[in-house]
Amino acid sequence: MSGSVPSGFLALPGIDEALAREVQAGLDRVEERLRESVAASDPLLTAAATHLLSAGGKRFRATLVLLAARFGDPEAPELTPAAAVVELTHVATLYHDDVMDEAELRRGELSANQRWGNSVAILTGDFVFARASEMLADLGTDAVRLQAQTFGRLVQGQILETSGPREGVDPLEHYLQVIADKTASLIASSARFGAMFSGADPKVIETITRACDALGMAFQLSDDILDVASETDQSGKTPGTDLREGVLTLPMFHALRGAEPEHAHLRDLLGRPLDDAETDEALRLLRAHPAMDAARADLDAWADRARAELATLPAGPARAAFEALCDYVVERSG
Ligand code: IPE
Ligand code: IPE
Ligand code: MG
Ligand code: MG
Repeated sequence: MSGSVPSGFLALPGIDEALAREVQAGLDRVEERLRESVAASDPLLTAAATHLLSAGGKRFRATLVLLAARFGDPEAPELTPAAAVVELTHVATLYHDDVMDEAELRRGELSANQRWGNSVAILTGDFVFARASEMLADLGTDAVRLQAQTFGRLVQGQILETSGPREGVDPLEHYLQVIADKTASLIASSARFGAMFSGADPKVIETITRACDALGMAFQLSDDILDVASETDQSGKTPGTDLREGVLTLPMFHALRGAEPEHAHLRDLLGRPLDDAETDEALRLLRAHPAMDAARADLDAWADRARAELATLPAGPARAAFEALCDYVVERSG
């Protein structure tokens, strides 16, 4: 048994301790690959590309790769690079996302755009993508294709969010499409990579992919709830970033649905760019609005969809770990 002490969600009750230790040891190997991969000949690029990895992050997607591999052979050699690839892809999107969202904080540190400017942040994201692609090249054409499709969906989600719903498209449907593309796609593909490279049964590969698609929806819904409900010391980000940017998220859709006169001021603040004072006001009003509970109920429903898929998998520590992650996504505060 490895000496690695499980941390983060691997320490959750419901996750078998022996499994957690082995997955943690696997994550330590992934961490080494991540660090090596972002070294560049240029010191500024190395500093910028190391910045977000050093700042923290939950390594949720890498963990999903290693957990899904528990349905097959968890020692398969492709698993470490596959986990590093999905995590690098995620980190690269964070560099770009913070430029798009004009975010100042990420993982409790200044965002790269805030620290070095947009050009460096964009190029650093590109560089991290390039390093992910290089690692992916050794994993075969199926992996390259899956990653390319996932990346394409991710970009489509970010573009859809930026362009807003086309005429005739229901805004809530549009939002759900955005989060399916920008977030659930990579979370589902992470689990797919793990199951695939471990040689799991094809039916298990499909089921864990569907389960993590629903888990990914829940993950982004909880992120959107946390953008309103959490403080920087929990999330490492600035609360109210979506409100400030005029990005509509689930709690806001619920708030916009009502017609009560006492909430008219909040409704007026939603879906358009806000200044500092307006953002503070919108945050205060939305936090106290019943829309937050309605959004949490939707989050529960997505976690239940994931659980229903998981229930069809063979019972054991691997399935129990994914079930614990469903609870975590519903309850998390950061
Ligand atoms: C943040 O993802 C971006 C979303 C897709 C919601 P995480 O919450 O996994 O961020 P880190 O990796 O822990 O910083
Ligand atoms: C994150 O979207 C999705 C991607 C990075 C592709 P958000 O903008 O909602 O995530 P945070 O809240 O900044 O982490
Ligand atoms: Mg953002
Ligand atoms: Mg964004």
